[in-house]
Amino acid sequence: MAKAKAPDDLSDLFEAALRARDHAHAPYSRFPVGAAVRSASGAIFTGCNVENAAYPSGVCAETAAIAAMVCAGERDIAAILVLGQTDEPLTPCGACRQRILEFATPRTLIYCASASGPGVAWTMEELLPHAFGPDRLSKGAP
Ligand code: THU
Repeated sequence: MAKAKAPDDLSDLFEAALRARDHAHAPYSRFPVGAAVRSASGAIFTGCNVENAAYPSGVCAETAAIAAMVCAGERDIAAILVLGQTDEPLTPCGACRQRILEFATPRTLIYCASASGPGVAWTMEELLPHAFGPDRLSKGAP
């Protein structure tokens, strides 16, 4: 898989994701996650994972950050950064890749950070190739 080193201007996204991770509710997995979305306007929206005693009812950090962006009336993800407490870059789960796709372009960068820095970035199409996105529906049934 192609891998691009993250540029150095990510400190605001990284710090925002770290602050969000501090509010994670992860008593079951003990795996706190934070996410920060930069929208097309330049605003930053954050989210953390919120687990639930009924396990499948929990939500991922990326899901929460995207919901905050949409709730504020924005629809375009310029970049997203996700991190946990790991030394390795944290990549979004499959369901969150699909949720990011809804508001991204194939070239949108997804920064997979470690706990100590922005780490690496992949494009949307690298993380979710051959995806089923909104464009498929607009083409109608075959
Ligand atoms: N988690 C996220 O928040 N985002 C991901 O992309 C991967 C997993 C959360 C879900 C759950 O609360 C915990 O991490 C362990 O899977």
